[in-house]
Parts: sequence; C-alpha cells; structure tokens
Amino acid sequence: MKLLIINGPNLNMLGIREKNIYGTETYEGLLNYLREVCEAEGIEASFFQSNHEGAIVDEIQKAYGVMDGIVINPAAYTHTSVAILDALKAVNLPACEVHLSNIYEREEFRHHSYISAACLKTFYGMGFAGYREAILFLRDHCLKEMST
Ligand code: DQA
Repeated sequence: MKLLIINGPNLNMLGIREKNIYGTETYEGLLNYLREVCEAEGIEASFFQSNHEGAIVDEIQKAYGVMDGIVINPAAYTHTSVAILDALKAVNLPACEVHLSNIYEREEFRHHSYISAACLKTFYGMGFAGYREAILFLRDHCLKEMST
C-alpha cells in the first residue's frame, strides 16, 4: 500500500514556529516518526512539503493512478483553498485530513475547512499521533475495499 503524506505551508518550521501550539519537535522529527509508523505497518510512504498552493495541487494530481491514499495537513490552506479541495476531488483517492492543533478551539477563521469535504475523516488536536491515526484509518479503509 502506497500513501502520499502532504504537509502544507510553514510545517517545515515545526520546532521553531509557535512552540506553545505546535510543540518543539521539528519537521525532520515528524518525518522520522512517520517513517517509523509506516515501516511498522508495511506501508510505502512518500512525503511532500510545500509552502505553495499550486505545488500541492500538482503533487495531488501526480498521485492519481500511483498512490492508494493521501494524508494531508493543508496547514493555512485548509481555510482558504478551493484548489486543493478540487484536486483531491479530481483524483478521488481516499484521503484524511490532519491538524496538529485543535483548530476548533482556536481563532474562528480556523474553524472552517474547505478540505474536509474531500476527506473521509479529519484528525485534529492530537499532535504527531493524528498522522498515525490517519495512516491506520486509510490502511483499514483500503483493506476493507480490497475485500469487497
Ligand atoms: C494546522 C492548523 C492551521 O490552522 C494552521 O494554519 C497551520 C497548522 C495544524 O496542524 O494544526 O499551519 O494545520
């Protein structure tokens, strides 16, 4: 099983940006954590981080016919991007949305996600563990699909 794991703008600044919200672990730390999770589950993962909306759209399009699912933390684009929503709808791959923080307990503009409409489930407020939950959810979802 092949998963594309996408991180949006400023997530490369983990460990530096707003540590009180996002913690002290770095983006490299997140990747190491995700590599371990995927290895333990026998999942082949491809990682992508960009600060650019179009680059994220391009990467989602490239996943068509190649990947079995997408885990995405769209970061600030969560609250603005119809283009990322449309790209996810276009490739129609099972997808999960992840947020490190609890976006529903933060500023009101973070309460709405454009991306949720193209995702099976959203995991939020769990830090790195939210990505693990999303990976396991997609693994179970794909196994179920294969057996029906
Ligand atoms: C975030 C939440 C977003 O509102 C914010 O813009 C981010 C990170 C999270 O992981 O909690 O950059 O997606």
